[in-house]
Amino acid sequence: MNILDEILKLKKEKNAVILAHCYQPVEIDEVADYVGDSLYLSKKASETNADIIVFAGVHFMAQSAKLLNPEKKVLLPNMNSGCFMADMINAEQLREFKNLHKGVPVVCYINSTAEVKAESDICCTSSNALEIIKNLNSKEVLFVPDTYLGKWAEYKLGNVKVTTYNGFCPTHLRIRPEDIQNARNKYPNAKILTHPECHWEVCKLSDFVGSTKEIIEYSKQSKDKQFVIATEKGVVDRLSRDSKLYNWGKEFILIKDDIVCQNMKWNSLEDIYNALKYEQHEVTVDSSVFEKAKLCVDRMFELLKTGNLK
Ligand code: 13P
Ligand code: SF4
Repeated sequence: MNILDEILKLKKEKNAVILAHCYQPVEIDEVADYVGDSLYLSKKASETNADIIVFAGVHFMAQSAKLLNPEKKVLLPNMNSGCFMADMINAEQLREFKNLHKGVPVVCYINSTAEVKAESDICCTSSNALEIIKNLNSKEVLFVPDTYLGKWAEYKLGNVKVTTYNGFCPTHLRIRPEDIQNARNKYPNAKILTHPECHWEVCKLSDFVGSTKEIIEYSKQSKDKQFVIATEKGVVDRLSRDSKLYNWGKEFILIKDDIVCQNMKWNSLEDIYNALKYEQHEVTVDSSVFEKAKLCVDRMFELLKTGNLK
């Protein structure tokens, strides 16, 4: 039996679900039940009846799945899969930041540890940051860790002061405004689609700014034929694959060669097989922060559903 069949067999036997982020190595889609951005995968994690969740993504994503599923076993296939941005702030640093801005609500990007979530009022993802901040109805919010997503939300909303921590994504920050200008010159008919973790100057020069899943949806629905993608390579790999498979006749170009998140590329099919077979590596959340961190994630879903918070 080949590894794909072995994984599918184990998945069935163990009543497991495999969630894969769209920055993962593209072959992981062959065994994944759901592929998407962090909001979509969090929703899928909250809805599943599986006993085991294998999260092909990075550590904070698996941790969020655990917060949404305290009774389930959540496995991260390769424990090297961290996120540089999530590690840029810890609970102590957040407490210091809050002390400088007393009484201002804290929105944390889902790219954060459970300890940081436990110190925050509500979390958000890249696809709902604007909606969450707006619905808090506060003149000012603190936003951690990503300064660029926070400042992009401030620019788009126009009437909320977003005071940001100085975290960033090293992969997205490598995309510079001149890369967008060069792409415009080289591909004058292409639409440029950008992730909001990029520098705001890059976002302002783009045709569309959205989460990874929003970028995928936009390019699928668009009548245009050529797209320059300013986010991680996995998105281009998936779009190019699907264009060939379903004869879309569309071309997808990565903004520049090496926009690759090494953290996202650790997980392999072999790691997924081992994760299922040996039920490794279990992701847990310390009991001292569990309830508060869970509340932070639950409040995001509550605000999205009802438009207000209890
Ligand atoms: P998405 O919200 O688009 O999944 O982004 C997560 C992420 O880590 C992007 O770097
Ligand atoms: Fe973290 Fe950046 Fe990788 Fe996303 S792309 S997982 S923010 S390091």
